[in-house]
Amino acid sequence: MKALVLSGGKGTRLRPITHTSAKQLVPVANKPILFYGLEAIADSGIKDVGIIVGDTKNEIMSAVGDGKKFGIKVKYIPQEAPLGLAHAVKIAQSFLKDDEFVMYLGDNLIRDGIKSFVDEFRKKKPNSQILLAKVPNPQQFGVAELKDGKIVKLVEKPKQPKSDLALVGVYMFDKNIFEAVHKIKPSWRGELEITDAIQYLVEKKFNVIPHIINGWWKDTGKLEDMLEANRIILDTLKKENLGKVENSTIEGKVVIQKNAEIKNSTIRGPVIIGENCKIFNSYIGPFTSVYFNTVIENSEIEHSIILENSKVKDVKRVADSLIGQNVEVLKSEKKPQAYRIMVGDSSRVEII
Ligand code: DAU
Repeated sequence: MKALVLSGGKGTRLRPITHTSAKQLVPVANKPILFYGLEAIADSGIKDVGIIVGDTKNEIMSAVGDGKKFGIKVKYIPQEAPLGLAHAVKIAQSFLKDDEFVMYLGDNLIRDGIKSFVDEFRKKKPNSQILLAKVPNPQQFGVAELKDGKIVKLVEKPKQPKSDLALVGVYMFDKNIFEAVHKIKPSWRGELEITDAIQYLVEKKFNVIPHIINGWWKDTGKLEDMLEANRIILDTLKKENLGKVENSTIEGKVVIQKNAEIKNSTIRGPVIIGENCKIFNSYIGPFTSVYFNTVIENSEIEHSIILENSKVKDVKRVADSLIGQNVEVLKSEKKPQAYRIMVGDSSRVEII
């Protein structure tokens, strides 16, 4: 069995963080989202992994490399534009050949991994297995209508959903999916939809089995979803200190990564502080991830994700935020007193 991981596309919903960088590499609890998927694939015993890449190809390639560190062998498959999930399957045909495969969307996070689903697929040998999860906002997903446990209809982002069962971004297929992706036509949004390809399989009476998952799953496209994913994953971490702590209070589940320095501060977990970070005279509250080389001084932060090489100084207080790479958030004593901001396109700043 092989895996096809989709890591191309445009990160429009996480702008401006993803204007220039890959949305699949935004870290959750200091690990790129994509890595959770690759680890889950490796854990299910799959070694041959094709990764679909687009404009952010170089970034993905330098983060993942040849896959050895995950125990997999990676082949990169460039996609000229994000023409749809089924288009990605089409262009991967020469890599996938006649093998069965798992398709994994690189921005999806499934806390309990995929091993049990892959095992079930191997055992039952259907033509396809899809995973479904109950969601409060089905209009934003592919939606499945079931009758007596069987799939009746699948619709991509319906205005009036017939159920609250969303398609999770992990699918299992045998070679019959290629017939489907060649037969379907682009949707209203101009994409070849995998949802339509699976609907084709259902209509042609191929055996497509649904599996409703109960564990936690997230499509991390939006800020609130990223923060939720961060909360859930931080809670699963084990306390660890590989850094230097001086005159500080560390409470609860706190991970301090290599060479991080914490002085005169209070850290209340669950929190992760990345490599080479400096936290001085500050309070870092629950559900915060600080990625590497970031400096926080005289500030209070909670329930936030801060990326690498950034600086937060003399700011009380930051909450529910996602701060990008190489960002400075500072208090200024300059007169006249004013908010002086340089914020990227499509950003959002709330001030008091
Ligand atoms: O997350 C689950 C949902 O994923 C499903 O419920 C939907 O049925 C399915 O269509 C998909 O919806 P999204 O609109 O969220 O897909 P998105 O465009 O965000 O793409 C998912 C991943 O695939 C993302 O990592 C980017 C990558 N991608 C996307 C497209 C359209 C590609 O690599 N190539 C593409 O052409």
